[in-house]
Amino acid sequence: MKICCIGAGYVGGPTMAMIAKQCPDIPVHVVDLNQERIDAWNSDHLPIYEPGLEEVVKEARGKNLTFSTRVDDAIQEADIIFISVNTPTKTFGIGAGRAANLEFIEKCARQIAKNATGHKIVVEKSTLPVRTAEAVKRILSSECSGASFDVLSNPEFLAEGTAIDDLLNPDRVLIGGESEAAIETLCSVYARWIPSEQILTTNLWSSELSKLTANAFLAQRVSSINAMSALCEATGADIDEVARAIGSDSRIGPKFLKASIGFGGSCFQKDILNLVYLCEHFGLREVADYWEQVVVMNDYQKRRFSEDIVKTMFNTVSDKKIGIWGFAFKKDTNDTRESAAIYVCRDLLRERARLCIHDPRVPEKQIRQELMAACTDMSGHLTDKDRWLVENNVSIAKNCYEAADGAHAIAVLTEWDEFKTIDFGKVHASMHRPSFLFDGRNLLDQATMAAIGFEMHAIGKSFNRQNSPS
Ligand code: UDX
Ligand code: UDX
Repeated sequence: MKICCIGAGYVGGPTMAMIAKQCPDIPVHVVDLNQERIDAWNSDHLPIYEPGLEEVVKEARGKNLTFSTRVDDAIQEADIIFISVNTPTKTFGIGAGRAANLEFIEKCARQIAKNATGHKIVVEKSTLPVRTAEAVKRILSSECSGASFDVLSNPEFLAEGTAIDDLLNPDRVLIGGESEAAIETLCSVYARWIPSEQILTTNLWSSELSKLTANAFLAQRVSSINAMSALCEATGADIDEVARAIGSDSRIGPKFLKASIGFGGSCFQKDILNLVYLCEHFGLREVADYWEQVVVMNDYQKRRFSEDIVKTMFNTVSDKKIGIWGFAFKKDTNDTRESAAIYVCRDLLRERARLCIHDPRVPEKQIRQELMAACTDMSGHLTDKDRWLVENNVSIAKNCYEAADGAHAIAVLTEWDEFKTIDFGKVHASMHRPSFLFDGRNLLDQATMAAIGFEMHAIGKSFNRQNSPS
């Protein structure tokens, strides 16, 4: 058996590395259009940061794990072809801002149809709208090349930052399809390291919809706790205490109840908007509205945080230096797609703050690109003022001390563990008074920070709020 995967991104790369490591007898070929990305996969500097990934890649690379741009060859040689290309939200035409852009999926299906001979199992790894497999099947059969195909849906549930552990010990693997034989073949790959009772099989549409549903439920929990955080701030309740109290109820459970500046990442918002679009397509207006509120609440939470900073700092941050700690959408990843930090920084820049940003894993170029993109409207227009602000009012620091030096405030936007072990006395000594600390991740202890002299504001906590000018 031979496997290939089209798309060497955050999902395709780690997933294929794990399959190659667990199945040393199966050649695994990962292909991508992006030469730079492939070169990075073949180097000592992998294109994505993920704890434990380097070890897994190094164990299999050069043996049964190959990275290249030879897409046609890989398709011809493989028995199982995973499609793991990105499916961003459409930015143009029908469904713009909501529907998934399936352009790359369709191109992949056409390329497979053109190059395939014999029998191939085509596996949708990318998250897709329900019934996309129908379109993929039609495209595959339209080339009349004599090849035959089975299409399976095998969505990936790994979370970034914990991808290797999630791949090694998944709660479940989900495989949806019509052909028993194809399902059995793919099951036999995962069964090398995952107990068979954790490999669930369903029909194609249930599998496609389960991925969207899982992400919608997870994002909904974050929006629910964030909604309550606003009420905590208004009433004097403490969101972490509320989360602990409700999380002890075994029906609710403790996970995914951490209040924050809002969820980010490439999936949650995109998948919910996609779900909303699907519901609208099927005439389910109320269902669409229900899920859309999860995104509306998330936008409110991001905006609320930056507005709170401005209000607290005497209603102006103009020309004030603010140290930004963290830019990635969560800790232990270099991924910044849809990171809440982008929008908080954009809003502060538009208030004319001077931002000095430090993230342990995100390079300067990526930070500037994200900020420029966030200032650009749907038609691709970036105002001269916004460009000027990103170019002149953003600097990048190599550590937290540099970011905080001479600042009026620090904003913690990603929960990196190393931020907890900073010498806060040293940081405080280098800042203006009052020294504001806005903890967007509830990472730091309020009593400790107050003892050092910070005026701390955190999500869903009412301390210091009574002192704030309104
Ligand atoms: C994945 C999924 O596939 C997406 O549907 C899911 O919702 C999130 O996770 P991800 O791996 O995070 O996407 O995307 P990305 O890191 O952008 O990787 C996709 C790769 O596919 C890129 O390296 C891109 O160059 C490649 N690609 C894209 C191709 O090789 N061919 C194409 O036609 C399009
Ligand atoms: C998510 C899903 O968890 C995963 O199963 C799916 O395959 C892809 O989408 P990911 O986006 O990588 O994974 O990370 P996740 O851990 O889910 O976090 C998403 C966002 O929610 C992050 O910005 C995180 O900071 C935020 N979050 C998460 C909270 O604000 N509070 C929480 O309690 C949990």
